[in-house]
Amino acid sequence: MKIVKHSFDGIIVGAGGAGLRAAIEAAPTMKLAVITKLYPTRSHTGAAQGGMSAALANVEEDNWNWHAFDTVKGSDYLADQPAVDILCKEAIDAVVELEHWGLPFSRLESGKIAQRRFGGHTVKEGAAPAFRACYAADRTGHMILQTLYQKCVSMGVEFFDEFQVLDIKIEDGVCKGVVAYEIATGDLHVFEARAVTFATGGFGKIFKVSSNAHSLTGDGPGMLYQKGIPLEDMEFYQFHPTGIYRLGILLSEAARGEGGILRNKDGERFMERYAPSIKDLAPRDMVSRAIATEISAGNGAGPNNDYVFLDLTHLGEEAIMKKLPDITDFVRTYVKIEPINDPIPVQPTAHYAMGGIPTDVNGRVLSDHKGGVIEGVYAAGEAACVSVHGANRLGTNSLLDIVVFGKRAGQSMVDYVSSTKASPLNESAADDLSNKISGFMEKEHTTEFSVAKIRSELQDSMEENAKIFRSKETLDNQTEILSDLRERYKNVTISDKSKVFNSELLEAIELDYLLDMADTTVASALARKESRGAHSREDYPDRDDTKFMKHSFAFKNGDSVKLEYKDVELGKYEPMERKY
Ligand code: FUM
Repeated sequence: MKIVKHSFDGIIVGAGGAGLRAAIEAAPTMKLAVITKLYPTRSHTGAAQGGMSAALANVEEDNWNWHAFDTVKGSDYLADQPAVDILCKEAIDAVVELEHWGLPFSRLESGKIAQRRFGGHTVKEGAAPAFRACYAADRTGHMILQTLYQKCVSMGVEFFDEFQVLDIKIEDGVCKGVVAYEIATGDLHVFEARAVTFATGGFGKIFKVSSNAHSLTGDGPGMLYQKGIPLEDMEFYQFHPTGIYRLGILLSEAARGEGGILRNKDGERFMERYAPSIKDLAPRDMVSRAIATEISAGNGAGPNNDYVFLDLTHLGEEAIMKKLPDITDFVRTYVKIEPINDPIPVQPTAHYAMGGIPTDVNGRVLSDHKGGVIEGVYAAGEAACVSVHGANRLGTNSLLDIVVFGKRAGQSMVDYVSSTKASPLNESAADDLSNKISGFMEKEHTTEFSVAKIRSELQDSMEENAKIFRSKETLDNQTEILSDLRERYKNVTISDKSKVFNSELLEAIELDYLLDMADTTVASALARKESRGAHSREDYPDRDDTKFMKHSFAFKNGDSVKLEYKDVELGKYEPMERKY
């Protein structure tokens, strides 16, 4: 296997919003490379639609403390409040900075950046829905990604596109670099670097119906977990209420922010019963639960009573075409429905991981639940858990998270690199990965142990047992299924033995990460005997602040998961009953 050696000060893994924002911060002061398994502008940030919140007060009175209040309440009080303060306070400058870099925000008549309503965002600590989400029609993430990429290109940031990082080298708790696989050639590349930031995105592909792209397989969290680094709050996985029925393609919450209404099979606006004050603009965990409850009660539409409707028909053609052009086109293309005239069949879709690689507010990766850090390793964006989203993220806070904490991770890389010396990493660093790949190449293929078969059983079973509502029974069942899948994974084989664009080989490695993500999700969910945010236990329907005002830390322990806990960092908001 050909091995190519590179030497950098810093490496960023992933070229979505968090990775690119970190790169902009770090590039001026170090020899930096961004390594991405995709082409940068195909990163999943581009699929985020509805907006990025900041209390600009362009439409009405607003301030960042109200934003922080909503974020903490939305998180079901599991978010760390000092981190939330940073998120909401720094949001304002972050939006202005993106505007100055050329992001084409939608505008008000006055010329100011337009702002729209979004779930769980209110004025005056719950008085009414707030106009807080800054947006570019319904392609805000796409515009952020393009803006950040153009900025990186203008700065001369070096990219390794379609290179997949598959190993990190940490010696005595200190980062030495990474090893990547060049997808076009099958060559291995050893990247010596003393600072590495993981911005690899989420892992929605553990579920069957997901808004996530095929590439969202938990690579960063999986790689670090396999090196003994814990994963935080993995039991909290967000289901976005409005995915296109069966396909899971995201239909932005902006649709409801602009006045869209959810209806059951009888045309009833059922959210009036679940969240009487803000109705369809309740936080996502509540709306997804409400939809699931309607469906279980037989109020779902269609031959199987398994979806509800998103009704935009009263908004009028002009508003739909101007403010929601992309999502309405998706509906025309994939469902053959005209949303101007007809309601759209939707169901909750696996969307966002609140949990992930534990970090402090400066992106430094934590080695344990006691505050230890791994020198030189950073994480940001959906791959990371700061924790600003707690048990349930508010819509629009992820685009915010990637720029605020991407920037902070970049700053930490700068500080670390300027205070340390390069240490060598030679070609033998590729040995572990080289042996792993040879193992796949040499093993004879059998369909019984194919990647696709194990992966689809994983996704089907997670959808069945670990989705919106869970119980000991479903989670025990899923634990058994995962243990069987893990055993079968040990024999997984691939049919493609070539070196050029061998996606089957990469999917085989990614499946290992997906199994890690599922194992930690299920083990953490089983141990959390309460319901909080996106984690709803049918057998423990109440929140239990006495026992579970804590973040979970899942450590790899052979083939099983060991759990530890860390107290939530409280602040000015006392945990209250969450009513909307
Ligand atoms: O609904 C949406 O536009 C998604 C936004 C988000 O996840 O923050």
